[in-house]
Amino acid sequence: MQGLLLLLSLALSFHRVRTARFSQEPADQSVVLGQRVVLSCVVFNYSGIVQWTKDGLALGIGEDLRAWPRYRVLRLVDVGQYNLEISAAELSDDSLYECQATEAALRSRRAKLTVLIPPDEPVIEGSPEILLTAGVPYNMSCVSRGAKPASVIEWQKDGLPIEGAVSTTEVLPDRKRVTTRSYLPIQPLDTDTGKNFTCVATNLAVPMGKRATITLNVHHPPVVTLSIEPRSVLEGERVTFTCQATANPPIMGYKWAKGGVVIQGARESVFVTKADHSFFTEPVSCQVFNAVGSTNVSILVDVHFGPILVVEPKPVTVDVDSDVTLNCKWAGNPPLTLTWTKKGSSMVLSNNNQLYLKSVSQADAGQYVCKAIVPRIGVGETEVTLTVNGPPIISSEPFQYAVRGERGEVKCYIASTPPPDKIVWAWKENVWEKEKGTLSERYTVEQSKPSAQGGAVLSTLTINNIMESDFQSTYNCTAWNSFGSGTMIISLEEMEIVPVGIIAGGTVGCSILLLLCLLALVLFLYRQRKGSRRGVTLGKPDIKVETINKESHSLEEDSGSVSTATRMVKAMYSPFKDDIDLKQELRSDTLDTRQDYELKDPTNGYYNVRASTHDEGRPASRSMHYSDYRTSSQPGGAAAVWTCNNFNH
Ligand SMILES: *[C@@H]1O[C@H](CO)[C@@H](O)[C@H](O)[C@H]1NC(C)=O
Ligand SMILES: *[C@@H]1O[C@H](CO)[C@@H](O)[C@H](O)[C@H]1NC(C)=O
Ligand SMILES: *[C@@H]1O[C@H](CO)[C@@H](O)[C@H](O)[C@H]1NC(C)=O
Ligand SMILES: *[C@@H]1O[C@H](CO)[C@@H](O)[C@H](O)[C@H]1NC(C)=O
Ligand SMILES: *[C@@H]1O[C@H](CO)[C@@H](O)[C@H](O)[C@H]1NC(C)=O
Repeated sequence: MQGLLLLLSLALSFHRVRTARFSQEPADQSVVLGQRVVLSCVVFNYSGIVQWTKDGLALGIGEDLRAWPRYRVLRLVDVGQYNLEISAAELSDDSLYECQATEAALRSRRAKLTVLIPPDEPVIEGSPEILLTAGVPYNMSCVSRGAKPASVIEWQKDGLPIEGAVSTTEVLPDRKRVTTRSYLPIQPLDTDTGKNFTCVATNLAVPMGKRATITLNVHHPPVVTLSIEPRSVLEGERVTFTCQATANPPIMGYKWAKGGVVIQGARESVFVTKADHSFFTEPVSCQVFNAVGSTNVSILVDVHFGPILVVEPKPVTVDVDSDVTLNCKWAGNPPLTLTWTKKGSSMVLSNNNQLYLKSVSQADAGQYVCKAIVPRIGVGETEVTLTVNGPPIISSEPFQYAVRGERGEVKCYIASTPPPDKIVWAWKENVWEKEKGTLSERYTVEQSKPSAQGGAVLSTLTINNIMESDFQSTYNCTAWNSFGSGTMIISLEEMEIVPVGIIAGGTVGCSILLLLCLLALVLFLYRQRKGSRRGVTLGKPDIKVETINKESHSLEEDSGSVSTATRMVKAMYSPFKDDIDLKQELRSDTLDTRQDYELKDPTNGYYNVRASTHDEGRPASRSMHYSDYRTSSQPGGAAAVWTCNNFNH
């Protein structure tokens, strides 16, 4: 039918038709659903029928297309215009359109009309507020339905775009519209409560997009900050612990503990207490609860203290040549310096808690000092005895004195660990051995009991009515223990008798000399004081005085003599003391430059000098220190005192 018509018109007006042509053809276009669109078609030098087809189907002839109420041909014959107007576009209008000038056998290009459909309002799952738990991952989802073309979903957090979303699309049964879903994985933070997440769905129909917003409510256990005021304290000072917490839902309560033990009665956010050294090692913890959970935060206090003896060194007894480890532990803050020294020596043997001595000899036996210095806080020291088992060591005077015709003694001082199990004296033709002793009545041997520590024994051979032959003999004192033996050959020398008058005179003379000495000493000290006052530039030194009384028994003393009391005065100067004169003096006898000694009064010095004479012949004594130095700085005086004491002895 159409073909026939075409042929007919061709035949009718051939020459007119030849010149007819499209001056405007319909173009591909988009229209948003519900809006109006015009497809243009203009034909020149043509006066026949023009009609539109949609997807190849003719829409009809005439201005109003009866079957298509929303379609109209806008005809202007003068200029050859046959535009197609579509009002209130629908999805069904989404087709291919063609304009045909049938009589001229002209067909326009096929124009694609795209109907754009905005998506429905996007929907975020859980809207308008979502309850999440801090730290628990969550997939936020937003769906944008029925868009054409498919909408693009973007996310914003408080207005700022965020990445990481994943989208899926689903074409609806009409094969035209698409539903888009977007998933945004989030890790909610405890600070996210009240934050808004916005899902923005855009396509060509809604360039500005459509949006949906969700507000987060993030539940989390309390977030706690525990602080101390002040930062560092001395023992006994007040400290304030403050437990600052935020929580959602709100805080239900506080609980405090120290070193894992709950502090009864502490239920507030602030806890005040006095700090002792235990706060340095036992953390204080604050536990805060809410409905979701609890948070426990611990803190240690920087308490300055010490030194405190943690592990007391234990006395050790070992055999000669074996290895020894002495243990000692101090605690203190700020960190302490530990030193091991042998008593009487300033050589530092170790700076560790352990003192390791390899292959010890008998000379290593003695007291060891474990000393700790906590900077600016204090000093502590403890002693431990190392006993070395070995053969006896005899340390008597090789020449001893007696008066002819009187009673005399030969003394054998045996230091032995373990204690000696046999002691033999041999002289002239005599041999004395315990239990086998058959001696002439002129000789007796007496032995002291082994002393508690060290097992030292003093064996005394007493000779009545000393004769010439007693001076000519040597005395062989030999002792045995399980490790071997020790021997000493002692000679007895004759001592001249000193008349009583001389003794008396000497005593008086000595007393005078002594007085002079004292006077000189007092003067010297006075000058020293003055000098030191002059020397101090940074204020008065901070002096702490400790008085230690020690009893020292000497085996060489007569049994009846009274023990000598020795007083040791220890002074500690503040570290900023700047007295060069005093420092130089003090250096002479101090183990550590921080610890200086000061004489309290001259009389003590005197006692010390006396004590030192009794220690004559023994290894360095603990009572000899500062006072000795004082006297020796005045050579004349010291010499006099020493002579006197020897004489009286
Ligand atoms: C129509 O055709 C005539 C001759 O047949 C020609 O002169 C004229 O230019 C044409 N008009 C247009 C607009 O092409
Ligand atoms: C979130 O959803 C996406 C898409 O379904 C999925 O691949 C992902 O595993 C989900 N993540 C979580 C944490 O549920
Ligand atoms: C989040 O959205 C709510 C309601 O939509 C609004 O009241 C609130 O101010 C928004 N919060 C932020 C941080 O933008
Ligand atoms: C906090 O934790 C520490 C260590 O786990 C524990 O010793 C302490 O008792 C706890 N505090 C409270 C208040 O439970
Ligand atoms: C001393 O006596 C011991 C044991 O009696 C003996 O072995 C040693 O040889 C003696 N020493 C001297 C020098 O006589």
